[in-house]
Amino acid sequence: MVEKINREDWENDFNFIQLYTKKLKDKIVWPEHWTEAKLSQNLLGEGYKVLDVGASAGHAYHAFKEHGCGYYLGVDIIEKLIDIGNEYWKDDDRCELKWMDVAKGIEVDEAFDVIILNTVIAHVIDWKKLLRDCNSVLKRGGYIMIRESVTKGETKRWAKKESAYNDNVHYFTHWYTNFNIDELREFFTKDLDMNVVKDHINPGPNYWFFAIRKKE
Ligand SMILES: C[S@@+](CC[C@H](N)C(=O)[O-])C[C@H]1O[C@@H](n2cnc3c(N)ncnc32)[C@H](O)[C@@H]1O
Repeated sequence: MVEKINREDWENDFNFIQLYTKKLKDKIVWPEHWTEAKLSQNLLGEGYKVLDVGASAGHAYHAFKEHGCGYYLGVDIIEKLIDIGNEYWKDDDRCELKWMDVAKGIEVDEAFDVIILNTVIAHVIDWKKLLRDCNSVLKRGGYIMIRESVTKGETKRWAKKESAYNDNVHYFTHWYTNFNIDELREFFTKDLDMNVVKDHINPGPNYWFFAIRKKE
């Protein structure tokens, strides 16, 4: 069981950085990113503000910029990816990347309409604190959207031999929280008193998708 992940573990993982730089430049966006972007536009109209927690270099903005997003802030612990993202998106003033260790707290200057966490919660040991912190910077009536990799309702344990990714980050850190999807659902409804509006597993790759609404 990993008890502490250091910033250096991420910063020194060159394969991971290469992988996410490629995703940004080749516009490789998860199907759930498109779902989140379309859902945000349908639910909130034009000009909504999105916080992408664990954004890498901001590849998700490829989907949001086509679906009414007024401002996208991506935060991540890997400084190199933040620099690559800011350079890539420099001509779009609606998109910004900032370095942040979200395990310590979410430090932003404003509240957001949508907060997305895509395969991030499983990297953060105190995931309940992370979600409480996200909730505190979410507007009333706003949405948290989550994509998490699961097997039989548990967060998936990556093994190098089965991972499509040849990097250490997935191998070493993508399993230690090992929470259960029921636990996650209950945390939102009971602890945070929010309403789950979408709750399903995608066929095939076993990705769970949640959209949860903060009450008005
Ligand atoms: C599996 S990647 C997912 C990237 C992106 N959300 C996606 O769906 O493609 C997890 C991301 O979370 C970031 N991350 C992990 N722990 C973090 C922390 N404590 N603070 C900020 N970012 C973190 C990693 O650097 C990485 O970019």
